[in-house]
Amino acid sequence: MLFDSHAHLNSERYDDDRETVIKAIEKSDVKYVMDIGYDLESSVMAVEHAKKYPWCYAAVGCHPHDTKTMDEMTLVMFRGLAKKPKVRAIGEIGLDYYYNHSEKDVQQYWFRRQIQLAMELEMPIVIHDRDANDDVMRILKQEGAFSRSRIDKLGDAKVLLHCFSGSKELAQQYIKLGATISIAGPLTYKNAKKSIEVVKAIPVEHLLIETDSPYLTPEPLRGKRNQPNYVQYTAKKIAEILDKQYEEVAEITCNNAKKFFAID
Ligand code: NI
Repeated sequence: MLFDSHAHLNSERYDDDRETVIKAIEKSDVKYVMDIGYDLESSVMAVEHAKKYPWCYAAVGCHPHDTKTMDEMTLVMFRGLAKKPKVRAIGEIGLDYYYNHSEKDVQQYWFRRQIQLAMELEMPIVIHDRDANDDVMRILKQEGAFSRSRIDKLGDAKVLLHCFSGSKELAQQYIKLGATISIAGPLTYKNAKKSIEVVKAIPVEHLLIETDSPYLTPEPLRGKRNQPNYVQYTAKKIAEILDKQYEEVAEITCNNAKKFFAID
């Protein structure tokens, strides 16, 4: 049983053959997929997918790239969407200083406002962090995402570092704060030394797996468009690194994700 904790089935890159991809998921070991919003339109679509497919759940939010499109009205719309059935997180939200598609101060402002929304609704937060480690952690702390009251209420901080690419030290720091780490396809690439250290360093109960479909296709399919059933390759790589059975890694990470997103 596999859980793809981060996919974008709402991406326009599936518009021509989404049903084929859906069928491939339904024939595979993947029993759950989180469809993750990155702007208003994609969040609406993620909620629709969650309604349509029993195995699909949704996260709603605005990716740092798209924060230049945010305004108060859009935030109100996100609040409404977040309350729909099978919406389990606010995300993906965060900071991206690699591309800087939106101004830094605009990214930070809407990152804060969306964390505040997740705090208010007591929902998990899915984080995108690229080249912004210090500011992401500082802002999460300042907004109370790791506060005692939130941890007491939700069981842990319910902060998911999606497609984690930081050091093992950073991963350990986050785990100490009550966060969860999600590993994507780049773990299977040749230059994955840092990610392999992360997988070895953090307790397996804090580990989730994801595809970030349609991006970041794992080996041996690198170069093709990614899709949720390819999450098996990341699970296999983790099994190899931890010297465990593939089935065991699949089950543990699936249960971790169900617990994180409060899915029975
Ligand atoms: Ni993503």
